[in-house]
Amino acid sequence: MKVLLFLSLIAPSLATNVAPLGQRGGHHIENVLEELRSSSGTGSSEDIDTSHTFDAQLLDHYTTSVLDPSADRTWSQRFYYDDRFWGGEGSPVFLYIGGEGPQGPVTDKLFMWQLAEENNALMIALEHRFYGESYPTKDMSNPNLVYLTSSQALADLARFIEYVSGLSSDSGAGELSKASPPLKVKADLSSSKWVSFGGSYPGNLATWLKLKYPSSVAGTVGSSAPVKGDYNYYKYAQVVGSALAYPLIGGSQQCYDVVEKASAELHELVTHTSPFGTSASLPASLRPCGPMANDLDLYAYESTIFGNFQGTVQYNLQSSAATVADLCEELIDESHATPLDAMASMVGKFFDASEEGAAEPSCIPSSWDELIGELQEEEFDGSSAMRQWIYQSCNEFGYFQTTEGEDHPFTSLTSCSLEIAGKQMCEQAYGIKNYKGPLKAGVGGDSYASDERYGARSVLGANITMPNGNMDPWHSLGVVNSTGTFYDEDQVTTNSETVVFIDGTAHCRDMYAPGAFESMGVNDTSAVVWAHAKIKGSVESYLLD
Ligand SMILES: *[C@@H]1O[C@H](CO)[C@@H](O)[C@H](O)[C@H]1NC(C)=O
Ligand SMILES: *[C@@H]1O[C@H](CO)[C@@H](O)[C@H](O)[C@H]1NC(C)=O
Ligand SMILES: *[C@@H]1O[C@H](CO)[C@@H](O)[C@H](O)[C@H]1NC(C)=O
Repeated sequence: MKVLLFLSLIAPSLATNVAPLGQRGGHHIENVLEELRSSSGTGSSEDIDTSHTFDAQLLDHYTTSVLDPSADRTWSQRFYYDDRFWGGEGSPVFLYIGGEGPQGPVTDKLFMWQLAEENNALMIALEHRFYGESYPTKDMSNPNLVYLTSSQALADLARFIEYVSGLSSDSGAGELSKASPPLKVKADLSSSKWVSFGGSYPGNLATWLKLKYPSSVAGTVGSSAPVKGDYNYYKYAQVVGSALAYPLIGGSQQCYDVVEKASAELHELVTHTSPFGTSASLPASLRPCGPMANDLDLYAYESTIFGNFQGTVQYNLQSSAATVADLCEELIDESHATPLDAMASMVGKFFDASEEGAAEPSCIPSSWDELIGELQEEEFDGSSAMRQWIYQSCNEFGYFQTTEGEDHPFTSLTSCSLEIAGKQMCEQAYGIKNYKGPLKAGVGGDSYASDERYGARSVLGANITMPNGNMDPWHSLGVVNSTGTFYDEDQVTTNSETVVFIDGTAHCRDMYAPGAFESMGVNDTSAVVWAHAKIKGSVESYLLD
């Protein structure tokens, strides 16, 4: 049990900007689905191989071949096409938008599967450029990464939708040959309404698709979408703190206080020696893998400690890994002499990746060079996602989860600073000089490139549903209602938009099918049932004539 826990706590690609070494990166929803599939043993959605590639996707949607003959370069984008529920001509298409990791098909563990069944919808999933097996370039060298942007990804979606919408049962060889294997459809698709779905970064894309290409889809559901950019993103730590103190999910003020004190004791003890982390009094479960020469190595170490709390909160009750309640129960146990002992015990119990029966506990990664080395890996391998995702963070959104700011229990872990987690990482991994954050050129302060382009939390569109959970760190950059701590008073929404703010839930909770976590002993709360009803209502309204 002990062993599997750490490994199944997948590297939350959005959660920690650094994948703890040895863990998988990737699109979190896909990772949760993978665990659900293996735990339930039912494979009804795996029965047919629905995978294809769209071979007429464009490398650069913004340069014409008149100016640059290479601009028409096409590449193959992976997608999945599943028509088991499709009612044919006039019946809708539900598009599952891929994001920062390998993409799989729509499965019965997703709520949109049930909605598709009820509405006779065709189910399509499209992988995001540069992730999984969808490579527009031969590698991820710095010059090639310029094609990895949210606007290119949105243009991919629009072009793909246009292609599929043009298909019919008597499509000619020319159209058919744009996909491999050829996409044979059973009816004309031109009159079908599309509804798109996505969660997390794909939640942004789902939202922005409706803003930038309003006629491509009738409506969209963008779950847990951090639509606002944020470079020094310590709001993330603030939500982690509030989750550790939230009684509804097993947190308490006492738990929060222990984490705050333990973080201070740990930082003090580790930085007391030179090199860092060589003190004999450091508990065995908190030992670094090697001595730490400087603050950069210390960052590798402290961000892993912080990452344990991040991952637990972001995925609370969505896997067999330890929950917030588990962590807090251990942390406030009276048997521990000091807060640091409590944290050591918690790490040993829930985050020890060593082999079962091993004499020594595993160690905590503590090498900056290893971290950067991984981010510098330019080859595509079908699954890696960290180089791509951090690049997108550096270039467009920020999202660097620092421990700066106030009102959270991790302020003592000072190596998780903007200087290191943001600037140094972006400069060293991608060779960017004098990095100043993803700001719009020539504009200072709080103006992010993505905010300029998409309007941040003022999502001014039609038929957009935006679910968020108040115990998901990412809701702090999302669109929530006025009861939320992070509600933005200046945000403007339109009267055909629906905000679904869910009490007590973690990241993308609404995306999973009703009862999806029952096999793990977790039932849907009334808040989840309410959110599903609301989302279903929205989707059905988008399908009305
Ligand atoms: C905001 O969301 C919360 C949590 O779902 C809900 O209890 C509350 O009624 C909502 N308030 C408004 C003003 O919509
Ligand atoms: C969860 O739901 C199942 C069936 O829906 C029920 O049998 C079980 O008692 C519930 N578990 C809890 C902890 O409420
Ligand atoms: C919103 O959905 C309704 C119902 O399908 C549709 O009539 C309307 O055109 C949609 N609006 C936009 C801007 O897509």
